[in-house]
Amino acid sequence: MKKQYLIWDLPLRLFHWGFATTLLLLWLTAELGTDYIDWHIKLGYIILVLTSFRIFWGVVGPKHARFSQFMPSPSAVINYLKSHKSVDAKVYAGHNPIGSIMVLLMLLLVLLQASSGLFVDDEVFSSGPYFNAAGASVDKIMRIIHLNTFDFILAAIALHITAIIFYKKVKKQNLAKAMLTGKKDAEKLSAEDEISGSRLGLALIVLALCVGFVYWLVVINPPPMEEFFY
Ligand code: HEM
Ligand code: HEM
Repeated sequence: MKKQYLIWDLPLRLFHWGFATTLLLLWLTAELGTDYIDWHIKLGYIILVLTSFRIFWGVVGPKHARFSQFMPSPSAVINYLKSHKSVDAKVYAGHNPIGSIMVLLMLLLVLLQASSGLFVDDEVFSSGPYFNAAGASVDKIMRIIHLNTFDFILAAIALHITAIIFYKKVKKQNLAKAMLTGKKDAEKLSAEDEISGSRLGLALIVLALCVGFVYWLVVINPPPMEEFFY
């Protein structure tokens, strides 16, 4: 059997597949309309937990999860674009420079989508916890953001999946398998690329902090909802 190195830690992999699934369910519940909007809002809180976890993990997680490790510089992007077709092109253990831009873009877009959701209502019975809290003009802007950002998220996901297929078919690298097992073939990597473990204890602490933060954000901090009587 080929020698392999552990590259993607377990919390990052669980984040990835949880993030993708929650996003798809958010889309579904938004499309299904009013009957599913309370589910939509709860899933929105889950994605806020996942996104804040990923941001925190990008600071304290293992090597390839860290933003400092894959923050793309213009020169890295240019070098990558120039050289990636050659046979001896550098193989990245973690995200390559273009992949890094996509990762950051997806996280930012989802953060924008989820935080704008906190300020919108469905014009029937349900609303985000900050609807009416910052004034009608803020609500109006947030509504425009919430109803339009998802198209950009869909475009980013389409590009993301196209890139994974391109890597599989053209560059013969199975990135999706690595996102499942965490492991990549050691052949073109070096021993320093391997991470020593997944830091599960730390991940649980970070997760608990993120749950606490989102609970504060959506339950404790918002002003009380106005009661409507009919
Ligand atoms: C990344 C997370 C989210 C995604 C991808 C998402 C996606 C969407 C989409 C695509 C729509 C438009 C449905 C349509 O075409 O009518 C929508 C509507 C809505 N979303 Fe979200 N949403 C997210 C988070 C949230 C959160 C956190 C809240 C509230 C706390 C929320 C509350 C709402 C409400 C109330 C509507 C209904 C707006 C209306 O019917 O006019 N969303 N969402
Ligand atoms: C809703 C759909 C999806 C979303 C929103 C999404 C989002 C993301 C994000 C945010 C990352 C960065 C991971 C991190 O550093 O934390 C990532 C990486 C990755 N995703 Fe996805 N993903 C989706 C679907 C998929 C699917 C269907 C596959 C496989 C077929 C896939 C394979 C991968 C792989 C292999 C990476 C690592 C890329 C690399 O090697 O640089 N993703 N994805």
